[in-house]
Amino acid sequence: MKDTLILAIESSCDETAASVVKNGRTILSNVISSQIALHTLYGGVVPEIASRKHIEKINQVIEQALTEAGVTLDDLDAIGVTYGPGLVGALLVGVAEAKAIAYAKKLPLVGVHHIEGHVSANYIEHPDLEPPFLCLIVSGGHTHLVIVKDYGEFEILGRTHDDAAGEAFDKVARAIGLGYPGGPKVDKLSKEGNPNAIEFPRAKIDGCPYDFSFSGVKSAVLNYLNHAQMTGEEINRADIAASFQNAVVDVLVEHTMAAAKDFGMKKIAIAGGVASNGTLRDAMETACRKYGYSFFRPSPIFCTDNAAMIGVAAYYEYMKGTRSGWDLNAVPNLKL
Ligand code: KG4
Ligand code: ZN
Repeated sequence: MKDTLILAIESSCDETAASVVKNGRTILSNVISSQIALHTLYGGVVPEIASRKHIEKINQVIEQALTEAGVTLDDLDAIGVTYGPGLVGALLVGVAEAKAIAYAKKLPLVGVHHIEGHVSANYIEHPDLEPPFLCLIVSGGHTHLVIVKDYGEFEILGRTHDDAAGEAFDKVARAIGLGYPGGPKVDKLSKEGNPNAIEFPRAKIDGCPYDFSFSGVKSAVLNYLNHAQMTGEEINRADIAASFQNAVVDVLVEHTMAAAKDFGMKKIAIAGGVASNGTLRDAMETACRKYGYSFFRPSPIFCTDNAAMIGVAAYYEYMKGTRSGWDLNAVPNLKL
């Protein structure tokens, strides 16, 4: 059977990325141009700068993805592109580029939901993984606990009521002076701290056992810092980072295990930038082993934003017959 080759483009936030994916599960190339150094100057992503940088980089990134895959535009079967959620100006760069290539080469265009991409990252290194399974999605903008019923089909069991998990990591990192991007820095510093040094709150929401709230733990860290400043008490940043991370990971694992039990799910996956967190990966693996569940997680490079995951999601959408029109637009607050 002829191979199906998809060129995927991702530009929803601060990474300009392109990838060529064969038959949905084999990554022929995965090129990511990160803007982190640029945004670090401002302590966070500046949308206008992100859009401009995407425009500068996108052609180069796509060319490199094709070259590394050893293919040309003429070999492709479809173009996949993230069309939401994300920063509108950033998304538009990828969408316009994808439309231009698809139109010029008379190729089908497949718009992809960014979060569906994150979930699909799990298929890359786990050829045995097929729906249904339970997936915890933890990124900078999203925290969802879902049953993946089929490719691209989700039943949402829980979501955050306020901050996303990654957002809480970023805010706490800023508060303790670690800067942007916060998550990986908290992860690293935690290794030097005591996770039980400070008892930060683990929020539960009445009547919503699978929902999350991270604004409480974030405020508790800020209050702790304010109190220390007022009393002149010395603070240990590593202990704060480790204790905060411990509180967040506890809740993520506990709610995921509760959902797995209640819905009889035996396969558990994690996805999104925070899924690259070492403590979360270890804790989830330990819990899955304890309860006899199979555990799936993408390598860290496929957890944070990349186009390979978009190519995988685009393949399954393409096989289902999903086609986007020339009126495909960026949808910054696209719902799952
Ligand atoms: O999925 P992603 O790359 O972009 C979004 O779709 O949001 O996730 C980015 C988020 C950021 O909040 C970042 O701080 C967090 O993921 N993150 C981490 C780690 N690596 C990235 N959080 C905790 N530990 C990490 N190792
Ligand atoms: Zn993402």
